[in-house]
Amino acid sequence: MSAKKNENDLMEKIVSLCKRRGFVYPSSEIYGGLASCWDYGPLGAELKRNLKNFWWDAMTNRRDDVEGLDAAILMHPEVWHTSGHVTEFHDPMVDCKTCKARFRADKLEEARCPLKPSKSPLECGGELTEPRQFNLMFKTFMGPLEDEASAVFIRPETAQGIYVNFLNVKNSSRQKIPFGIAQIGKAFRNEITPGNFIFRTREFEQMEMQFFVHPSEDEKWFEYWREQRWQWYLELGINEKKLRWHQHDSGELAHYAKAAYDVEYEYPFGWQELEGVHNRTDFDLSRHMAATKKDLRYFDERFTEKFIPYIIETSAGCDRTLLTILVDAYDEMEIKGEKRVFMRLSPKVAPIKAAVFPLVKKDGMPEFAINVYHELKKRFKVFYDESGAVGRRYARMDEAGCPFCITIDGQTLEDETMTLRDRDSMEQTRLKTPEIIEFLGKKIR
Ligand code: GAP
Repeated sequence: MSAKKNENDLMEKIVSLCKRRGFVYPSSEIYGGLASCWDYGPLGAELKRNLKNFWWDAMTNRRDDVEGLDAAILMHPEVWHTSGHVTEFHDPMVDCKTCKARFRADKLEEARCPLKPSKSPLECGGELTEPRQFNLMFKTFMGPLEDEASAVFIRPETAQGIYVNFLNVKNSSRQKIPFGIAQIGKAFRNEITPGNFIFRTREFEQMEMQFFVHPSEDEKWFEYWREQRWQWYLELGINEKKLRWHQHDSGELAHYAKAAYDVEYEYPFGWQELEGVHNRTDFDLSRHMAATKKDLRYFDERFTEKFIPYIIETSAGCDRTLLTILVDAYDEMEIKGEKRVFMRLSPKVAPIKAAVFPLVKKDGMPEFAINVYHELKKRFKVFYDESGAVGRRYARMDEAGCPFCITIDGQTLEDETMTLRDRDSMEQTRLKTPEIIEFLGKKIR
């Protein structure tokens, strides 16, 4: 079987598992779906929430030098002129004169011809137009009139909400430079060729942090944040062998960046960007200062001077990280002649932390199990299941990414111990309720 076929198979398996188990559904599916839009189901919503909390915890709660923010999606239209997005935020687009499909001119090798899906638009024989620039920002109207004066942009990145609040946050938090502002929120880009499931979509969520530093210390903090972000992925349980850095050369650098590195992951469809770490210099604050005439400079006692801070940005896609987690966790094993799927999600982000089963539906086992379930539920997201053979129940939880299953059996009724089965090692340990609570607490935090 070709490598390409294997890659497609793995993505198809993941998409199908996501639908079947309630991680991710196609958006508006009963209407035939809406291209590149996806909805998170019960397990997906929980996984996403845990992922965002994991990021928020690392980037704000555990630190003294980063504050949180939740800025509006709609911003003053001038923001996007000042930031350069109106003039610079373009992708080159070509049309196929045969099938009328549109493609990103710089990603033609990766694209598929709609009429001949095994071929790229470079191979299918269709004639392409000359590339032209296509602005990726969505526009809408504010208020009852649909004219240019009431047009506003739907933010294509969360970062600008942080820059325009730099003074507010500095004054209200009384932080001193170096300090950062972190934000999680939706962003929208009218991508020419979205695809690969939730990898590239038109509506997505970003987890961004902007760190304000003295210009003489930008390189030191750039390296510091690269290291922090790499460690974060390892703490999340991502396989380090599938991660690498990609340094942007001068041709790739965004209009605002002096230096940039991407964290890349090896997806089934190849190495691709997962997160960007950028040295944005004083580009953003200088531009906003010039446009608004507000003094965004900072007086630093250490340097006894006023300066416009440089910004080190860490910018991760939440949906893309979630896809990375799913791809990284997917595993198949043959057990007693049956192919079984294991989603080896880290307990830190797994949607369900533990499942509680009575071995059989008699002899007081369900009653004991329900009590344990209610006790655990006060602290963790747990699931109770008494239907079907215990082997099948294990299999359902393995597919849902649940790391631990707790089974109440005959011995439980004698000494109150239950088996706690570890999804990955398959080891079973007998523990009482307080020990299970302590064990889960340690694994999750
Ligand atoms: N503020 C800087 C910025 O937005 P970016 O490299 O354009 O930088 C940062 O985006 C991250 O946002 C990417 O590394 C990716 O994880 C995510 N992202 C960007 N466009 C996306 C899209 N169309 N769909 C899903 N995620 C996207």
